Amino acid sequence: MKLVLLGPPASGKGTQAERLSKALRLPQISVGELLREEYHKGTKEGKAAEKYFDKGKLAPHALVMKIVKKRLAKKDCKKGFIFDGFPRELPQARALMKLARPDRVVYIKVPDSLLVKRMVSRTQCPKGHTYGIGHKPKKRGVCDVDGQKLSHRHDDTPDIMGHRVKIFHQKTEPVLRFFKKMGIVQTVSGTGTPDQIFKRIKL
Ligand code: AP5
Ligand code: MG
Repeated sequence: MKLVLLGPPASGKGTQAERLSKALRLPQISVGELLREEYHKGTKEGKAAEKYFDKGKLAPHALVMKIVKKRLAKKDCKKGFIFDGFPRELPQARALMKLARPDRVVYIKVPDSLLVKRMVSRTQCPKGHTYGIGHKPKKRGVCDVDGQKLSHRHDDTPDIMGHRVKIFHQKTEPVLRFFKKMGIVQTVSGTGTPDQIFKRIKL
């Protein structure tokens, strides 16, 4: 199964991708997390990406595709994968069609008014384990999985978030229309608890 999860920032893509990854035993691939990892490692790619995600802009096509190709070449992607937040613009969608045509696209639809609420509540550990309104850590400020300190993401500010939402409407909605024409999009309401949303996804 080659699955793509799309939705605006803080819509719950990562939350649902993690659950789907466990249920389907497929790797979750978040380009945002991969870029943050590169940044924390201090690589050339991470440094190049920083100026984009700190402004809420999309990272350049060549950089994103380099990272995606490298990830798809790993053994665990042989049986399929779950992309969380990729492709986000038409050139990425066209490039993915050549690399590995997706079987299904799940669009998590959340009104803009709810996104900021979710974003301000979000904390993460350096490995990307995420907490928020619907999922609180057992011990405040500490990751349940690896005991690491939780912090807010640099791009989770109202200003940058506004820009990320705008980019979603401008650049990612055309990607949804592209996949809708192929008849592979399932639109799921992203309001309610993470469990309720998970149950709505039919693959
Ligand atoms: P990325 O990291 O992908 O950020 P995003 O798309 O803005 O999405 P988020 O990770 O913010 O939200 P999410 O939908 O995963 O929600 P989550 O599950 O965390 O990308 C960051 C940046 O990297 C981009 O701006 C760009 O610069 C770059 N980038 C990434 N991909 C790229 C690409 N393809 N091309 C170019 N550049 C790219 O949930 C949010 C919060 O809400 C959490 O706290 C969670 O616990 C909580 N929550 C989740 N579900 C619920 C629920 N049902 N009820 C209540 N709370 C909930
Ligand atoms: Mg995410």
